[in-house]
Amino acid sequence: MTSTLKPLVLRGAATHGAPSRGIEVWPPVVLAPMAGVTNAPFRSLCRNFGPGLVYVNEMIMAAALVYGNPRTRSMVSFAPDETFRSLQLYGSDPVIVEQAVEVLGSENLVDHIDLNFGCPAAKVTRKGGGAAVPLKKNLLAEIVRAAVRAGSRYGIPITCKFRMGINDDLITYIDTGKICRDAGAVMIALHARTAQQHYAPSARWEAIATLKQQVEGIPVLGNGDIWCADDALRMVAETGCDGVVIGRGCLGKPWLFRDLIDGFTGRPRQSAPLLGAVLAVMLTHAESLMQHHRDNGRNDDTKGIREFRKHCGWYLTGYPVGPEARRAFSEVSTLDDVRNLAASLDPSLALVEGGERLARGHTNGPINVVLPHGYLDHLDDLEVPADALLTTMSGG
Ligand SMILES: Cc1cc2nc3c(=O)[nH]c(=O)nc-3n(C[C@H](O)[C@H](O)[C@H](O)COP(=O)(O)O)c2cc1C
Repeated sequence: MTSTLKPLVLRGAATHGAPSRGIEVWPPVVLAPMAGVTNAPFRSLCRNFGPGLVYVNEMIMAAALVYGNPRTRSMVSFAPDETFRSLQLYGSDPVIVEQAVEVLGSENLVDHIDLNFGCPAAKVTRKGGGAAVPLKKNLLAEIVRAAVRAGSRYGIPITCKFRMGINDDLITYIDTGKICRDAGAVMIALHARTAQQHYAPSARWEAIATLKQQVEGIPVLGNGDIWCADDALRMVAETGCDGVVIGRGCLGKPWLFRDLIDGFTGRPRQSAPLLGAVLAVMLTHAESLMQHHRDNGRNDDTKGIREFRKHCGWYLTGYPVGPEARRAFSEVSTLDDVRNLAASLDPSLALVEGGERLARGHTNGPINVVLPHGYLDHLDDLEVPADALLTTMSGG
C-alpha cells in the first residue's frame, strides 16, 4: 500500500463565538498518553527533540477533576512554552465527562482533549469501564457527544483512542471508529491490540489498515510497537494510516521524536546517542521532575527522584553498562547520586547493535479481561459503569 501522508489537522468546532483551537502537525506524530510518564517534564524533553508535534499529558480521571481532587488537578500541568496543551480524559459517564470538559475549557486549561476507551485494567473493565465501554455503542456515542458538545463551547477538538476490542470474540474497533466520528471526534487512534492481549503478542497493524479503509472522513492514527523511526514509516506504508502514536518506543528515548521528524521529512538519520549524551538527558530529566513536583506543592524531592528511578532502566536499555550500575540507578535518592553515578560511567559507550528496538515499559500479556456479570445481555442500555469513584488508574 502506498501512502501520501498529509499534515494532521486537529481543530475544534466552535459555538457561541468561541475561538476554535487547533494545530496543524507535520509530520503527523503524536506522543501517546502514558499514565505516570507523560507529564510536563517528560513532554518538555520530547518537545526539545521534536518541536511542533502533539504531546499528550497523562490521563486525567474526569470524575476526580469534576469533584476537585487536588492531586488530579495538579496533574493538569503544562510548561509555559507548551503552545498546544493536550490531555487525555478517562470517563464513562456522559454527564461527568461533559462537566470535566467544561472545567478544562472554562478555565482555559487545554487546547485538545483525547478520550480513553482502551483501558484494560481489571478494576475498570470489571465495572464496565475502560475497554468495556465500546461494547455499549449507545453509551459510547453519548460520552463522545457530551465531550464534543462541551468542547465546542471553547473550540476544543476531541479525539478518541481505543483498542481493537475485548478479545477476538468481542471485536469492536470498526464500530467504535464510526461512532466516534459520527459523534464529532476529529481524529481516532487505534492501539492495535485487544484488551486481552494487553501488551503482547505484537500489535496487529492489519487492523489499522482495516480501520483506515472502513472508516472514512476522519484521520486514523496507528499505534503499537513503533520502536524506531523505520517502524513508523513502515506502519504508514503498510496500513495507509494518517499518522502515528508513539508509546513505549520513546521511554528513555525522547530523541525518537527527532528521528521521526528526520524520517518522515527525508532528512538523514542521526545515529543513536553515545552514553554520555544519554546521561546528560537523564540528569536534565531528574532535575526537571524534582522542580515539577516542587512547583506542584511538594516541599521535598522524594517524589521527583522516585519517579525518576523508573526512567533509568529505560534510558540504559541497550547500553552495555552492567547490572550493578543499573541497580544503583534504580536506587538513587538525590541529584548528587545521579551525578556521581553518571560520572562513574564511560561516556563513549555506544548502543549495542539492534538496541533501539529493545522493548521497554509493559510487555506482559495476554491477560484475563473480566466484564461485569451479565454485561453482554444488556449492551443497548445507557447504564453508566460504576467506575466513577476511581481516582487513579493506568493504561490504554
Ligand atoms: C506506562 C504506560 C502507561 C499508559 N497509560 C495510558 C493511558 O493513560 N491512556 C492510554 O490511552 N494509554 C495508555 N497506555 C498505552 C499507550 O498509550 C499505547 O497505546 C501502548 O503503549 C501501545 O503503544 P506502544 O506499543 O507504542 O507502546 C500506557 C502505556 C504504558 C506503557
